[in-house]
Amino acid sequence: MKQTAVKIRAMKGGQKIATLTAYDYLTARYVDEAGIPLVLVGDSLAMTVLGYETTLPVTMDEMVHHTAAVSRGVKEALVVADMPFMSYQGTLEHAVENAGRFIKEGLADAVKIEGGAMRGELIEKLVANGIPVLGHIGLTPQSVKETGGFKMQGKTAESARKLMDDAMVLEQAGVFALVLECVPDDLAQKITASLTVPTIGIGAGPYCDGQILVFTDLLGMGLGHVPGFVKQFADLKPQIQKALSAYKNAVEESVFPGK
Ligand code: KIV
Repeated sequence: MKQTAVKIRAMKGGQKIATLTAYDYLTARYVDEAGIPLVLVGDSLAMTVLGYETTLPVTMDEMVHHTAAVSRGVKEALVVADMPFMSYQGTLEHAVENAGRFIKEGLADAVKIEGGAMRGELIEKLVANGIPVLGHIGLTPQSVKETGGFKMQGKTAESARKLMDDAMVLEQAGVFALVLECVPDDLAQKITASLTVPTIGIGAGPYCDGQILVFTDLLGMGLGHVPGFVKQFADLKPQIQKALSAYKNAVEESVFPGK
């Protein structure tokens, strides 16, 4: 049965919500067929698939193109498209138009937006116009130039209070769930207990209502830096490299193809 934002919201406090990124038809089919209820077309696409150093350069057109491919591969999961840097930071009209493209052209079910209380007005507007929103606070990679790197957030009492306030504003604005990235376990636990919508953690400890990982990190097939909080459930990189070398050798030594 097809997932909806309403159903994901209702999972609060029940079965934990396993969430994964996917970037194309192939990865989306694997994720959907594993029964994972929420698939995020993350702007991590920029780094994992497109070879950029950060998530900042990925464009609306690139994100819509990959979201449409993911949507073609998914039958049941909720498809959430990540709004890329500068697609929603300008005027509300521009942001709504871009969110609409993900629904109309990318056939996504919802969008994700990075940022705290300052995004409240936009989220209210999107929800009022029928576009469900997944919030994202804590480490927000699109702000990496301002925050100075990929660092744990909410470590001081003041920044922890700010994150708690942000979470409450986003809930009030209408997010159906909230990603908490790289925040201390006890803060994630407090935010989770204070909200009526599910939290989905990444580098945020065991107390969130769900967990999200990046597809290539989970399978051990990525070529970039792997954050310390990642658990690799497979180690595919050496297997892929071995298979490719075996193929190369077989062709070069005329072992493959046979007659
Ligand atoms: O872009 C992404 O993959 C993300 C998740 C890691 C939350 O934002």
